[in-house]
Amino acid sequence: DIKGFVFDLDGVITDTSTFHSQAWHQVADKVGVNWDAELADALKGISRMDSLNLILKRDNRENDFSDDEKVQLATEKNDNYLKLVNQMTPANILPGVEDFLIDLSDKGYLLSLASASKNSPLVLKHLGLGHFFSKSVDPATLKKGKPDPEIFRRGAELLDLDPSQCIGVEDAAAGVQAINSAGEVSIGIGDPKVLASADINFVDTTKLNLGNIAKAMG
Ligand code: G6P
Ligand code: MG
Repeated sequence: DIKGFVFDLDGVITDTSTFHSQAWHQVADKVGVNWDAELADALKGISRMDSLNLILKRDNRENDFSDDEKVQLATEKNDNYLKLVNQMTPANILPGVEDFLIDLSDKGYLLSLASASKNSPLVLKHLGLGHFFSKSVDPATLKKGKPDPEIFRRGAELLDLDPSQCIGVEDAAAGVQAINSAGEVSIGIGDPKVLASADINFVDTTKLNLGNIAKAMG
């Protein structure tokens, strides 16, 4: 029996995945790395420093920068990102998500957050959704990022549930992989081609509700 939901944040609860992309795109332009939609997809769910390394690797530039320079580039990306985050309001909650969270809590499901973002408390505050996620995995304490299952296992643990009692919700291929390896039921939000390994796929958050999930689980 499903008793809990472990949520990704960026691209699931709110539209910040486009903000992360915009902020990295500016850095990629600055260092002269070619930017495209495929690279943007590959960065979803990936930690800040790993994202930078992936961008640089794209053009075999990963050895062109010192560690200090890399930290500076990552800081610059985060400054770009924070400018966008600081303009966020509850209007940035993706359609249907708040109703889904209310329905889940009303029905007694337990909720936790499994986001790789160190900015997630700030983002939740802007959205006015902090009260749903008193249980959040701190990404700074992880040994490995997505697609490793650690973050989703910890999300279940915070709820005192076995992973088999949880559904994980993700928009990133790396995230769906992490949910599957953790032994939770995976819901992928977005392009079914990108999220082919998800147990359940919804093209967008308007389809994310208990009725559709029950139907999909048969
Ligand atoms: C999420 C996003 C990634 C981002 C990561 C770290 O997983 O999908 O695009 O790189 O969080 O975010 P942060 O806010 O800590 O840089
Ligand atoms: Mg995401």
